[in-house]
Amino acid sequence: MSDTGGEALSGPDLGTVGAASSELRDGGMLLGHFSGEPVLLVRKGTAVHAMGAKCTHYGGPLAEGLFDGSTVRCPWHHACFRPDTGEAVHAPAIDPVACYSVEQRDGRLFVKWKISKPAASAPSASVPSSVIIVGGGAAGFAAAEMLRRQGYEQLVTIISADDAGPYDRPNISKDYLAGKAPEEWIPLRPPDWYQETKVDLLTSRRVVRLLPDTHSVELDDGRRLEYGALLLATGASPVRLDVPGAQSPHVLYLRTLRDSRTIIERATQARRAVVVGASFIGLEVAASLRTRNLEVHVVAPEEIPMQRVLGAELGRFVREVHEQHGVQFHLGQTVTSIAEQSVTLKNGTKLDADLVVVGIGVRPNMELAKEAGLKVNGGVLVDEYLRTSGPDIWAAGDIARWPDRYSGTTIRVEHWVVAEQHGQAAARNMLGDKQPYAAVPFFWSAHYDVAINYVGSAQEWDEAKVVGSIPNRDCLVAYRKNGKTLAVASVNRDAESLRIQLAMERGDAAAVDACLR
Ligand SMILES: Cc1cc2nc3c(=O)[nH]c(=O)nc-3n(C[C@H](O)[C@H](O)[C@H](O)COP(=O)(O)OP(=O)(O)OC[C@H]3O[C@@H](n4cnc5c(N)ncnc54)[C@H](O)[C@@H]3O)c2cc1C
Ligand code: FES
Repeated sequence: MSDTGGEALSGPDLGTVGAASSELRDGGMLLGHFSGEPVLLVRKGTAVHAMGAKCTHYGGPLAEGLFDGSTVRCPWHHACFRPDTGEAVHAPAIDPVACYSVEQRDGRLFVKWKISKPAASAPSASVPSSVIIVGGGAAGFAAAEMLRRQGYEQLVTIISADDAGPYDRPNISKDYLAGKAPEEWIPLRPPDWYQETKVDLLTSRRVVRLLPDTHSVELDDGRRLEYGALLLATGASPVRLDVPGAQSPHVLYLRTLRDSRTIIERATQARRAVVVGASFIGLEVAASLRTRNLEVHVVAPEEIPMQRVLGAELGRFVREVHEQHGVQFHLGQTVTSIAEQSVTLKNGTKLDADLVVVGIGVRPNMELAKEAGLKVNGGVLVDEYLRTSGPDIWAAGDIARWPDRYSGTTIRVEHWVVAEQHGQAAARNMLGDKQPYAAVPFFWSAHYDVAINYVGSAQEWDEAKVVGSIPNRDCLVAYRKNGKTLAVASVNRDAESLRIQLAMERGDAAAVDACLR
């Protein structure tokens, strides 16, 4: 290992020493460095590619990920990169990694120079005359970026009810809320990007009506805009707590960047917080407020946090992790009223609280779709290309219910990476790609220094099989129904999580189970 004053670099210097060609097997990866940057060699058959080894999302070590024969997958949040072009073909990474030329000489592999970025591909002839994207969140942004990346040159308009441009929503309950992420991490792109790429971004603007017959939308300022193709990506809104006192100004929700800033502002003066709901968001808020040294109480009706999603054993572990950090749980309880300085529970307990954050779930924003007569059923129904029942209308993200190949059912999930990948797939399909959406859902959640990754989708299961040790933070938990593994949660088992997701994508249930032995 060598250190060039910045980050430690591993493996051989591929510019001077190179690597023995025999060390890189077919389908394998080899980590080295070139000009002070970590570089990964990847072999497919006789072709050897060299690419940047650090994920452009949050810097995940790609060498610890997986090469699936066409893309290199990041171990942290499962972004996929093409080794020949560096392109981030699947979110959450958006930017490419660098690519390098490789020379094979005397049985050794050498990296020669960085290759300049490939030009955008030309879109097919039958492209829409313009695209309107309703919603400036994960799916909406990813779709706009992909349209431009694919060389689409017509008008692209994002209309967003949010007052901020697209941002990294998962971060606003984690490092940002904890005060550990700088402001510049939060926007997905700086404001200039929208000008440079000619993506028209209208913020603080709501679409109030969708008119499929005239291919147009009506905005809350009375304007009517026409589209050639439309993407509905309106996301979800928090479920509101309905008890006396729930309207008080110190009772807050977390969906937007503004919400996160409001909680931070309150948290700087507050001493005791009550978090209502032991959901992922509720518990991430609890963790972030503990980092800010507030006393934190979590109130939730279930006996074990997140049992419905993660099962009893992993749920208990999550609870213990939070308790080790000082969070106090009031489980099997609901809130009956909220006063200025306290919260009363069903069993009569009164908890002091000068800040209350409610995280009791979300509802998909489907009003536009419903009123326009699109087919909905617990989500806006889309086909495998993410097309709705309306002409030239696609849907993506938290609102979309799509046919999931692995489970053989239609599903709707609320995951960041899925929303982005939906947006990317819808954009490609608008341009005539005709690629069925085949990705297997993935999400992650962070609690202090514990990250939980989850692949697949188990709406219900009859067995939660634990492999490894939950207390040692080294485990897989498989959620199985009728003997089939539908989803797998993992802690510190990133490589297995990637392999299981790949096996699920290939519809290979036996290979999934082989990873669980
Ligand atoms: C605090 C928080 C933390 C999260 N952490 C994680 C995580 O760690 N991992 C994970 O997998 N998922 C996480 N999620 C879930 C993830 O963020 C969502 O699944 C994802 O953002 C959904 O993307 P979307 O594009 O469907 O909707 P959103 O990102 O919610 O975007 C919807 C957009 O539509 C706009 N909009 C709505 N109605 C209209 C209208 N009528 N006109 C115009 N605009 C409209 C909204 O203003 C918004 O800009 C988190 C969510 C929250 C709130
Ligand atoms: S760091 Fe690679 S996907 Fe997040």
